[in-house]
Amino acid sequence: MKGIVLAGGSGTRLHPATLSINKQLLPVYDKPMIYYPVSVLMLAGIRDILIISSPEHLGNYQRLFGTGEQFGLTFSYAVQPRPEGLAQAFIIGRDFVGADDVALILGDNLFFGAGMGEMLERAAARKAGATVFAAYHVENPQAYGVVTLDRAGRPLRLVEKPSEPESTWAVTGLYFYDNQVLDIAADVKPSPRGELEITSVNEAYLERGQLHVERMSRGYAWLDTGTHDSLLEASEFVRTIQHRQGLQVACLEEIAYLQGFIGREQLVARGELFAKTNYGQNLLRLAREHDAAPPA
Ligand code: DAU
Repeated sequence: MKGIVLAGGSGTRLHPATLSINKQLLPVYDKPMIYYPVSVLMLAGIRDILIISSPEHLGNYQRLFGTGEQFGLTFSYAVQPRPEGLAQAFIIGRDFVGADDVALILGDNLFFGAGMGEMLERAAARKAGATVFAAYHVENPQAYGVVTLDRAGRPLRLVEKPSEPESTWAVTGLYFYDNQVLDIAADVKPSPRGELEITSVNEAYLERGQLHVERMSRGYAWLDTGTHDSLLEASEFVRTIQHRQGLQVACLEEIAYLQGFIGREQLVARGELFAKTNYGQNLLRLAREHDAAPPA
């Protein structure tokens, strides 16, 4: 399975912070925002990742991640000339996806919760159709795609930014698709707001009876980083968890090591590179702990 991180857009709601840098590179507490969605793809077992961003900013991602070998990953990069909608990721990424299945995650979506790994692996293992992840409750469902579910949790309807939402289940910015998505996305017509909507792609799967909805109960945190306030709140959330647990959220080398993508030597080398930070110390601690009790 391939993975795409969509990290373009104009970031106008974060001006002037995003006048010269793009939003998904801003820090969420101690690391660039894009680390969080990349960590989600890695937890799903995905190692081949395409990063899509605007022409002015793509180079920053190439400098940040390079080939991806430090995480045992392979990164590719592609430009989205203008932010014309999330479904465009599959038009731009068509060659990259090839004959594979693909997961798309928005570069500004942050997830945290027990059992994330298993839920992601379950979605990745599903051979046909699409899987979306619905968050139980958001304060402002009007700002999102909203899904109405029947009693058994099956999707009945999807609406993008409803003025009067009939459900509290918001569709998060994480989507797993089989290869049909390439042709479905190619057929999507622009919405009234002029965008190729991901909700139109999901509706096509719903019509085919092939849309699965994984419900994220209230025990999961799904954080948005679209405004100055929500960005600061996300930073505070990560800081609180990290301070309390003494562990890192979205530490890519740690996930790479635990997933078996990199070995101990690479882990230690990266820990030494960042030795002045908690991020680096976390990697060195992990290496020591695993020396004492190697993973089974
Ligand atoms: O966050 C989840 C929501 O994301 C879903 O509930 C909605 O169904 C979905 O349409 C989307 O809604 P938004 O209105 O939040 O999408 P927005 O236009 O803000 O774009 C989300 C991110 O993707 C943002 O960081 C910018 C980036 N983006 C957006 C567009 C339209 C791109 O990189 N390229 C684009 O063409």
